[in-house]
Amino acid sequence: MDFARKDVNLLESSPTAFLRKLHADFICKYEKDRDSYEYAMSESLRLSGIYWCLSAMDIMQELDRMNRDEIMKYVKECRREDGGYGPAEQHDSHLLHTLCAVQIAIILDRLECIDAEGIVQFVKNLQKPDGSFTGDSSNEIDTRFTFVALATLYLLGRLNEIDAQKAVEFVLKCYNSDGGFGTRPGSESHSGQVYCCVGSLCILDRLESIDRNKTAAWLAQRQCTSGGLNGRPEKLPDVCYSWWVLSSLAMLKRLHWIDEEKMRRFIYACQDSETGGFADRPEDVSDPFHTVFGIAALSLFNHPELSSVDAVFCMTKKCLGDKSLC
Ligand code: FPP
Ligand code: ZN
Repeated sequence: MDFARKDVNLLESSPTAFLRKLHADFICKYEKDRDSYEYAMSESLRLSGIYWCLSAMDIMQELDRMNRDEIMKYVKECRREDGGYGPAEQHDSHLLHTLCAVQIAIILDRLECIDAEGIVQFVKNLQKPDGSFTGDSSNEIDTRFTFVALATLYLLGRLNEIDAQKAVEFVLKCYNSDGGFGTRPGSESHSGQVYCCVGSLCILDRLESIDRNKTAAWLAQRQCTSGGLNGRPEKLPDVCYSWWVLSSLAMLKRLHWIDEEKMRRFIYACQDSETGGFADRPEDVSDPFHTVFGIAALSLFNHPELSSVDAVFCMTKKCLGDKSLC
């Protein structure tokens, strides 16, 4: 009989402290090594990848090692005629990468270099009559696109451009009786989707519309014996869920419902003590995606070597200034 594995074992040899210097070197190398196989393979995610790298460096107070001019030049090349941004030069625009363009510009303090008006029009055109959002010209609806649309407009100070009430109504249609949220009405609860929906309600100041205790209880149940957090019941823990779950709990003001000591031990164990960076789980290969979310999760627990991160936007409170929400 095949028994599904639902947790991981932390090894004696796993790291037990935060390897800040190694991570900063890992991100620098990743960003600079443009001929590498990994870099070429990541074209469809490139603008997002640049945001992950920059935010990780900003949280680690190492942003000065990144080349601001070169990065902003690249961001401009990703702008499309419809006002949105694609993941790379020759790609179509998508909401996910459009938010990343705005986040990158804010982290680098170059918001004047992006075409805010074009972005607002691009985002507005993606809202459907029921309040939901698609991510691009395809018709796929997902609460992650709602969050990304709201975050983009909020950061540009242009939330008034869409129908916010309808957006809230759609998010609440995706609220499940177990306290979680799914991608669409009737879809199963998933921690990533909870982050997107709680984040959307936080941006629109409507968190009182849900049962915060029930949602926080569903999130707290994501902690496995290893200390790691999973995305759904019966799934393996993954370091990126440290972010999706902890940030949601922070927005709900219930971060203390997680066992912090065990959580920290799991996150440390996901570091690669040779190459630097974090992997999804101990002993796996590290990447920038899991690295930024591992670092951001540690920042939510006020790690002394890290700048404070905003739980909604996964960017430092410092770079957000008065736009910081939580
Ligand atoms: C799991 O995805 C993660 C999510 C559903 C959350 C996605 C969140 C965004 C797109 C918004 C990101 C914005 C910021 C500011 C961080 P998955 O498809 O990998 O799920 P799986 O682990 O179940 O495969
Ligand atoms: Zn992951």
